[in-house]
Amino acid sequence: MLILMENRFIDRDVISINDFNRDDFLALFKCAEMMRDHEKSENRHLFSGRLKRRRLAELFYEPSTRTRTSFNTAITELGGCSDGFSGIEGTSVVKQESIRDTILMYNANHFDVLVMRHPLDGSVQWAADVSDVPVINGGDGMNEHPTQAMLDAFTLHILNDNRLDGIRVGLGGDLMHGRTIRSLSQALALFDNVSIFWAADDFFKMPGDLERLLINRGVKVERLDTPEDVLENCGFYYMTRPQTERIVGKSAQEVRELLQRYRITPERLERFKGKILHPLPINSQLAEIDNLVYYMGCQGFLEQAENGIFVRKALLYLMMPEEGYTLFRGVLNPEINRSNNRIFREVNEGGRKDGNGEKIVRNIEDGLVLDHLKPASAEEIARELMLVEGGYSCITASVAGGGEGKAKSFLKTNLHGLSERELKRIALISGEPTVNLIRNGGVAEKFVYLLCGNDNCVTRVVKEDVPGKFYYDGEIRCGYCRRPYAPENRKISGGELNRYAGSLPRRG
Ligand code: NCD
Repeated sequence: MLILMENRFIDRDVISINDFNRDDFLALFKCAEMMRDHEKSENRHLFSGRLKRRRLAELFYEPSTRTRTSFNTAITELGGCSDGFSGIEGTSVVKQESIRDTILMYNANHFDVLVMRHPLDGSVQWAADVSDVPVINGGDGMNEHPTQAMLDAFTLHILNDNRLDGIRVGLGGDLMHGRTIRSLSQALALFDNVSIFWAADDFFKMPGDLERLLINRGVKVERLDTPEDVLENCGFYYMTRPQTERIVGKSAQEVRELLQRYRITPERLERFKGKILHPLPINSQLAEIDNLVYYMGCQGFLEQAENGIFVRKALLYLMMPEEGYTLFRGVLNPEINRSNNRIFREVNEGGRKDGNGEKIVRNIEDGLVLDHLKPASAEEIARELMLVEGGYSCITASVAGGGEGKAKSFLKTNLHGLSERELKRIALISGEPTVNLIRNGGVAEKFVYLLCGNDNCVTRVVKEDVPGKFYYDGEIRCGYCRRPYAPENRKISGGELNRYAGSLPRRG
């Protein structure tokens, strides 16, 4: 049996590449190599009892061929078994069951580990927060696909004479909407002297926050004009398909035209001595990799796909101790629901004046004033929260305010508090509001409610009840999708933001 110096994977969630380091990767590669060598030898059943009675739940809210099947193969070959769903049809998700409740039911059914794929960014982090047992991210929206990055990096490591330091990798296809590129490039950033070259249409370009992060971590990132330029500069070209299910505002024909200039064709590969990789699936209609490339010596994506089984076997092997069982407790830790998405502001005695010189607390003794709303959005908020129907009296007003001559809206109501759901609804309609709690005609408490700006983040979906959480790693980032946060409420000052950043948990 394998004796490892230190197993760094045991009982750990696998959510983001950012939670792993270079040594983790090298340890995983070693174990994956061992799995591969045994698999290809006479001794192929050596590990077949290692995870006996262990159960893996596969929760695939989105389509999958490779990821789900290879996890299935991995757990089965290690002696365990799997169950779950592939597509939400036939599950209670169609009855609006939340992510949290689905996860808790898989916990109640005594699964030892969960792998989940979901269209929302940060959804798997949320699943991991509520789950009693480790959770593996099988792809969350446009965010991350860490196990794909692990198998991609493993493949590159093997093909590049067992080293990733100094590697030069080309990226192509859809860098903007693809999660495999985000995870793989961050995995490569764990190694030294890495260069990434890419060529793609502006619409598919590398997201700015990712490029910044890679450069900050010492990766050389260079955009080149054509795939030929990229192929000339590196030994590996990692192509991806346009993520048509996540693309808005472009027709299929437009996507096809934008891709055309960047397809991988045999002509382009005439002088290329390296390997073409791809996480798969290849879109056979758009054919971002030409059919003839399958038959060329530089085709590396089939070996890459098989490596997925070895890497996932290694991961499950390392994550689960030989014996162990997590008792379902059926209670949730209240800490999970604790948010840190409010910037509390200083309160001026007696209530502040608005842009018209009117005291904002006039006409209201006890209740709420929502300020800094988007122009003319107060009526919509009053409707959405059913304030009038709920028996609350409200005064909505649009006044000219601020130095920029822009209209701004107020909403004053005798409602006392707002739930997290209501605050989220307001923020979705109107950006980040300032909430004033009024007691005895004066402002008793005042805060700005912050919302992650990533449209696809799980924290923006009201029905999922995911508490807004941020952390600081040199930038303020969403605790779920990990995108940098930019305030929408223009009234938040630099000083306030700095103080807030200082109060947040750190992540390195
Ligand atoms: C990828 C995914 O789901 O992000 N597929 C995979 O797991 N190999 C890539 C893709 O769908 O484009």
